Amino acid sequence: MRDRRRIRRTPTVIDTDPGVDDALALLLAWGSPELRVLALTVVAGNAALADTVRNAGRLVAVRRPLRPPRIVPGAASPLRRPLVTATHYHGEDGLGDVADWPAVAPPPASPSAAEMLVAFARIHAERLTLVALGPLTNVALAVREDAESMRRIGRVVVMGGAVDVPGNVTPDAEFNAHVDPDAAREVFDAGLRIDLVPLDATRQAAITRKRFMVVLGPRPHPREGPSGLLARRIAALTEQAFAREGPRGMHLHDPLAVGLAVDATLATWEPVRIAVGDGGETRRTPGPANCRVARVVDTDRFIDFFLERLCPASS
Ligand code: BDR
Ligand code: CA
Repeated sequence: MRDRRRIRRTPTVIDTDPGVDDALALLLAWGSPELRVLALTVVAGNAALADTVRNAGRLVAVRRPLRPPRIVPGAASPLRRPLVTATHYHGEDGLGDVADWPAVAPPPASPSAAEMLVAFARIHAERLTLVALGPLTNVALAVREDAESMRRIGRVVVMGGAVDVPGNVTPDAEFNAHVDPDAAREVFDAGLRIDLVPLDATRQAAITRKRFMVVLGPRPHPREGPSGLLARRIAALTEQAFAREGPRGMHLHDPLAVGLAVDATLATWEPVRIAVGDGGETRRTPGPANCRVARVVDTDRFIDFFLERLCPASS
C-alpha cells in the first residue's frame, strides 16, 4: 500500500468531454495520489455540453473522490465551426447509455471554464498541470484571456492529434483536433509547455476486454461499497466500446494522457514543431519545437499502472 502522506500532490485541472475513455481517465486521476484534481473544466466534444457536464457530475457522484473537484462548464461549440460529436461511439448520452445514474444538479455556469483555467494558472503557475482530454476550445479561450499566465503552467498534457500515423475521423485527423482545429492552432501557437499524446502513442495503449474484466471481476463485484458499484458501472459503460474496437481491445486514449501526467517516464518523448491544418491535421513542420510528442509507450507498465489505480479497494 502506498503511503499517501509522503506523496507531493501536483495541483491538476482536467479539461474534458466525458466520454467513455475520459471517464476511465478521470478514474485513473482519482486513483493517483500524485495528483490533486482541483477542477474539471468541461467542453463539448464527444457529446453536447449539457451532456458532458452532466456526465462529469455523474462520475463524481459515483466515484466520490475524497476531495470532489469543482465542475466548471465551458464552451458549447468550437471557436468557428459547428460541433461534431462522437455519440455513435460513446453512446447517445456520451457515457455508454447506461441506466440509473444518480441524479446530479447542474453546476453554476459562471465563472466560465476559460476564466477558471486562467485563475488556476495565476494561482499555481509552474506547479500546475493541465490535462486536456477533449477539443481545445476552453484552453484556446483561456489563452485569449491571459496567454502570459497560461504560459507559466508547468505542463499542459494534451491528448490529441495524429503525427506520423493515420487519423481516426479522417485519413489525416484525430477527433479532438478535428472538432476544433482553430482552437488547436491557437494553443500550439501560444508558447505553452505542451506534452502531446497523439494517436501515435495511444494506439500502443490498447487493453483487451479479458484483461479489463479480470480487474473489475465478475458481477456482482466482490468488493462492497462505492468501489463495487463503480466497477459494475465501468464494466457496463465500456461494453459497447469493447464491442466496437475489435480483438486488440479498447484504446486508452485519455487514460494514457493522465498516466503520462503522473509519470512521464511511461513513454519516450521527442521535441517537434506541429502545424495544425484546417481539418485538424497535426503534422511535423520545420522550425523550433512547440511541443514534445509521446513516442514509444511502455505498454505493459502503463496497463498495469492503469488497472491498479482504476478502482482502488480503499475507495
Ligand atoms: C479522443 O477522441 C475522443 O472521442 C476520446 O475521448 C479521446 O479524447 C481520441 O481520438
Ligand atoms: Ca476525450
